[in-house]
Amino acid sequence: MTKVVAITGAYSGLGEAISRLFAKKGYKLVLGGRNKELLEKLVSDIRKDTSAIGIEMDVRKKVDCEKFIQSAIDAFDRIDILINNAGIWKMAPIEDITEQDIRDMFETNIFGPIYLSQAAVKIMKKQKSGHILNIGSTAGIDYKSSHIAYGSSKFALIGFTGCLKTELQGTSVNVSVFSPGGMKTKLFRSKPERMKDTFMDPIFVAQKILEHIENPSDEWSIVLRRPSQQ
Ligand SMILES: NC(=O)c1ccc[n+]([C@@H]2O[C@H](COP(=O)([O-])OP(=O)(O)OC[C@H]3O[C@@H](n4cnc5c(N)ncnc54)[C@H](OP(=O)(O)O)[C@@H]3O)[C@@H](O)[C@H]2O)c1
Repeated sequence: MTKVVAITGAYSGLGEAISRLFAKKGYKLVLGGRNKELLEKLVSDIRKDTSAIGIEMDVRKKVDCEKFIQSAIDAFDRIDILINNAGIWKMAPIEDITEQDIRDMFETNIFGPIYLSQAAVKIMKKQKSGHILNIGSTAGIDYKSSHIAYGSSKFALIGFTGCLKTELQGTSVNVSVFSPGGMKTKLFRSKPERMKDTFMDPIFVAQKILEHIENPSDEWSIVLRRPSQQ
């Protein structure tokens, strides 16, 4: 049976790389994002390789997250893999980070994945199968300076994954978090000078994510540092 994969933040950076790679592998795709035009463009490209739908959604809104998961059921009758990829980044010292920035990062990087997982778990438990994969970051592990909001939101995402993993033991629903180091994407749009030549190509990271998903193991927190840091 062809597996159905739902991916948030699907039309750029790592999300786009995962979407295109999984499409080439024949998975059916449910692609989420805030920008309708970018989403439609990606979906029309991807339909050359596989069945796909695009759902306009904002992960900060619980109702959008519920509709996103339901749309997988409406279109394909199941959801096998949820990839919580959408995320935002901003760096600033603690004195300068604004309340709005802190709220935005927590709502996007941790509240969104929790809302999406809540909706997906209900279905995956009934199916007696499923995999929720959260995209963490080495910033959630390394305690970097000026990463108060981003680093702690990703640390929370890793903690959430561990708690959910324990809670779902014995249900046949798998949960894991994949934490890459720096990648060359638009994540750094607010401070482009942060992106280094040594940052990884998201296509390389997407390949590692595919390998993780296709070879399930008990390892639930996977870290992929950029080669220069290993
Ligand atoms: N780049 C890195 O060095 C790096 C390293 C480790 C982990 N990561 C993680 O990798 C993931 C993908 O990021 P990326 O590097 O590929 O950056 P990116 O190109 O900026 O992609 C992030 C995606 O998330 C979407 N998004 C943001 N807020 C959203 C919201 N509220 N609702 C729905 N979609 C939303 C963005 O679309 P719109 O803004 O257009 O809505 C965009 O498509 C993130 O979780 C990030 O934290 C990145």
